[in-house]
Amino acid sequence: MSTKVGYFPSDGAGQPPQHSLEPARLRQAIEQSVDELGRCPDVVFLHNPEHTLRDLPAEQARDRLDTASVTVVEAVAAGWCGAWGIASWDPRPVAAAIRSDLPPSVLLLRSGLAVAAPILSAADELYRRLDIPHEGRWGMSPFGGSTTDPAWQAIGQAGFLTDGQQATTAQVAFRLAYELPAVTRVAVGTTHRKHLEELVAGTELDVSEAAVARYRQLLSQQVASTTA
Ligand SMILES: NC(=O)c1ccc[n+]([C@@H]2O[C@H](COP(=O)([O-])OP(=O)(O)OC[C@H]3O[C@@H](n4cnc5c(N)ncnc54)[C@H](OP(=O)(O)O)[C@@H]3O)[C@@H](O)[C@H]2O)c1
Repeated sequence: MSTKVGYFPSDGAGQPPQHSLEPARLRQAIEQSVDELGRCPDVVFLHNPEHTLRDLPAEQARDRLDTASVTVVEAVAAGWCGAWGIASWDPRPVAAAIRSDLPPSVLLLRSGLAVAAPILSAADELYRRLDIPHEGRWGMSPFGGSTTDPAWQAIGQAGFLTDGQQATTAQVAFRLAYELPAVTRVAVGTTHRKHLEELVAGTELDVSEAAVARYRQLLSQQVASTTA
C-alpha cells in the first residue's frame, strides 16, 4: 500500500490544492494518512516535488528537496511508513535538484508510449545516478490518461509484440508501460473490474526486445537533436 504527500487543500473555496514541501506539513500529512488508512503505508511518496522546485533558484531547490527528503527518511525511521519514494510527473527538476547520497527506495514515474523523449531520458538519468534497484522503479499513467485517443489506433502497437499474439490496444499499451522505461509495477485504476482483468492478462504478452530497443534509439536521437 502506498500513498503520496505534497498537495494540501487551499484556503479559499474553489481554489486548486496548494503544493508544499514544508517538513511540518509533510509530517502532518503522513500521520493523517496512517490515521485514515488504519495502518502504516508501505511507501510514502513525495508527490510531484517539481511543482515547488521548478520556481526556485538551483541552490534553494536543492535545499528544499533535501529537507523534504530528510523529513520522509525520518518518518521511515520513526515507523510511520515502510519506505519513501518520489512520484513525479516531470522528473527533470527533480534530477536537477536531488542529492545522489539520499536516494529514495522507489521512483514512481510516467511510463509507456505516451511518455515524451525528454521525460524518459530524465527517468533513465535518475535511475542511473541514484542507483535505483529494478524493484524500486514503478510506472504510472500507462495510457497518457485515455485509451480512446485516436493516436492509439494510429500507432500500430502490434509491431512491438513478438509474432502471433492477439491483444487489445489497451493490453499492448499497458504491457509496453513496463518497458518504457523498464519498471516492475504500473498503477492503474480499479473502477471497472473487466478493464483490470484485461490489463492483468496483458502483462503476459511477449514484447519484441528489438522493437523496444529500436524505439528507444529513435527517442534518444530525438533528444540529442533537440539539445544539440
Ligand atoms: N496518473 C497518475 O498520475 C497516477 C499516479 C499514481 C497513481 N495513480 C492512480 O492510478 C489509478 C489510475 O489512474 P490513471 O488516471 O492513470 O488511469 P488508468 O487506469 O490508466 O486509466 C485511464 C483510462 O483508461 C481506461 N482504461 C483502463 N483500462 C482499460 C481497458 N482495459 N480498456 C479500455 N479502457 C481502459 C480507464 O477507464 P476505466 O477507469 O473505466 O477503467 C480510464 O478512462 C488511480 O487510482 C490513480 O489515483 C495515478
